[in-house]
Amino acid sequence: MTESTSGSARLLALGRDYYLPVYRPRQLILERGAGSRLWDIEGREYIDLAGGIAVCGLGHCDPDLSAALLAQAGKLWHTSNVFYSEPPVRLAEELVTASRFATRAFLCNSGAEANEAAIKLVRKWASTQGRGPERRVIVTFRGSFHGRTLAAVTATAQPKYQEGYEPLPGGFRYVDFNDIAQLEVAMASGDVAAVLLEPIQGEGGVMPAAPGFLQAVRALCDRHDALLVLDEIQCGMGRTGTLFAHWQDGVLPDIVTLAKALGGGMPIGALLAGPKVAEVMQFGAHGTTFGGNPLASAVARVALRKLASDAIAANVQRQERAIRDGLAALDRDFDLFADIRGRGLMLGAALKPAYAGRAGEILDHAAGNGLLLLQAGPDVLRFVPALNIGDADIAEGLSRLRASIAAFVAAAS
Ligand SMILES: Cc1ncc(COP(=O)(O)O)c(C=O)c1O
Repeated sequence: MTESTSGSARLLALGRDYYLPVYRPRQLILERGAGSRLWDIEGREYIDLAGGIAVCGLGHCDPDLSAALLAQAGKLWHTSNVFYSEPPVRLAEELVTASRFATRAFLCNSGAEANEAAIKLVRKWASTQGRGPERRVIVTFRGSFHGRTLAAVTATAQPKYQEGYEPLPGGFRYVDFNDIAQLEVAMASGDVAAVLLEPIQGEGGVMPAAPGFLQAVRALCDRHDALLVLDEIQCGMGRTGTLFAHWQDGVLPDIVTLAKALGGGMPIGALLAGPKVAEVMQFGAHGTTFGGNPLASAVARVALRKLASDAIAANVQRQERAIRDGLAALDRDFDLFADIRGRGLMLGAALKPAYAGRAGEILDHAAGNGLLLLQAGPDVLRFVPALNIGDADIAEGLSRLRASIAAFVAAAS
């Protein structure tokens, strides 16, 4: 055993023995990254089409993000929200301006925390309107994913994430995604304060809202005086080809939540509040110690500027086409996919029923071939690479995917 091998085995054992076993990480230890390539502790190279689960929008160790982090690290790390510092107040202003709808921002640390804030804001808004607790229902959609805190996991209309955590908070109602008739029925009694949805469901299988669905939801919200809350934690920050995914749906939301790519790998989340709700939470109504941390905010400011650029939008379009073409060619040769869907660089390839439940096996082959990929549920391969990924990395990634699928199909037959 070489020294590095023994080092890797030791680290894997530490993870196995000391982590609360809620994750099942792949059996490799990543050590460094540059752009869309990663290397493990053994020196093996990987093409990264997982992007830290749609987090590393600019790849790994983007020089501009690293420079912002280093500059801030020498100045000021943390103040708490008892004091202002420059990076978070500038970030708040830049996010509000970029959003085209919000007037205020609340900075936090994660997606779940942003959604938790959104749920609280909805309820506070309803309460200021004189609506009792029974008239503050939030409707969410089956297949959604909104995070793991107790309220966010209750908003997540998937029993597998909720089982064993009962009693769950009340006040949520679930309907089928893309079913406007069901939503109409769910809102008919007049007790709904908000509808919360992902413009493209991520964890639920990379499932886009149908054309016109968001507009129909907005119309129902307007009819019933309910808020429209969009969770853009996975699909936002340029991933679908526009800075915000909902721009392509032509709707104005009341609240948008962000996290993941916002910090380019630094943990940060945000809630953006439109004029109807931005003044509802006043002093003492909500808070967080680390939210708007100067280090994360300094990096997020640069990430926001770069992810909002035309160059990123053009690259997202270009590489979407390359991945779709590559997947179509794979499908012609291996007859594997029932559906290839998504928008921009948030793409899903759903396996045919013959291969149901076997996405994980393809991921195993891929990792063995130097390709890091994700699944979205047991049946869908998920592609959420860096938005600045280049032609060569996409081509090499697709070639490694081809080898992985060939090995999978050979083993399966
Ligand atoms: C759409 C969506 N919302 C919320 C979350 C939760 O974010 P976090 O894991 O940062 O709490 C996720 C994470 O995957 C997500 O995809």
